[in-house]
Amino acid sequence: MGITQKLIEQCKTPRGLLGRIMLRIMNGAHRGLTVWGLAKVPPCSKVLDVGCGGGAALSLMAETDRFEHIYGIDISPDAVSLATAKNRRHIETGLVTIMQGSVLELPFDDNTFDAATTFQSHYHWPDIITAIQEIYRVLKPGGQFVLVAEIYKIKYHMQEYNNTEQTKILFEESGFSRVELSTYQKSIRVAGNKVTSC
Ligand SMILES: C[S@@+](CC[C@H](N)C(=O)[O-])C[C@H]1O[C@@H](n2cnc3c(N)ncnc32)[C@H](O)[C@@H]1O
Repeated sequence: MGITQKLIEQCKTPRGLLGRIMLRIMNGAHRGLTVWGLAKVPPCSKVLDVGCGGGAALSLMAETDRFEHIYGIDISPDAVSLATAKNRRHIETGLVTIMQGSVLELPFDDNTFDAATTFQSHYHWPDIITAIQEIYRVLKPGGQFVLVAEIYKIKYHMQEYNNTEQTKILFEESGFSRVELSTYQKSIRVAGNKVTSC
């Protein structure tokens, strides 16, 4: 495997020493995007960050007084352990909970979260429709999902739903309402709400 492919694999599922280095780099490199994405998340009780990586978004959320409980989930055990180390103080107080698991099978009951986020992760998910439906399932009615990603990475990694307008359509087809699309530098932020029953 060439070095480029190795680095791509490490972004998809960070593991080992190189994975931990990449996670640290991403914690810094994605900060601007993450702050921009979080600005769209309303203060609420329970928020979930999917593909939390090295835990920078969790830490930024924990430094505000906007959330009562912050959850992170990532498929990579190395990401979970780095995110846990980064957020140890907030885990000890019960503000942050970090779990290992896949977006395709979220270990949460229906209607659990007021908001969910994902930063630079969805283009790595193996079945994007199932993944988005899982996030929809665990949101409370009216709950908001905010997705942030660099456009060139969406185009590079995804065969379908691989441009700005298609990402918005992905939300709409998955049942989200009030879908809003914004761009910042070369990234997109898509936000939508789970429909309320009446
Ligand atoms: C490019 S990193 C981004 C990490 C972090 N959100 C950030 O902005 O720095 C992508 C993350 O998504 C995670 N990931 C990939 N596939 C996943 C899946 N199926 N379920 C949950 N997490 C996944 C990876 O393990 C990795 O930590």
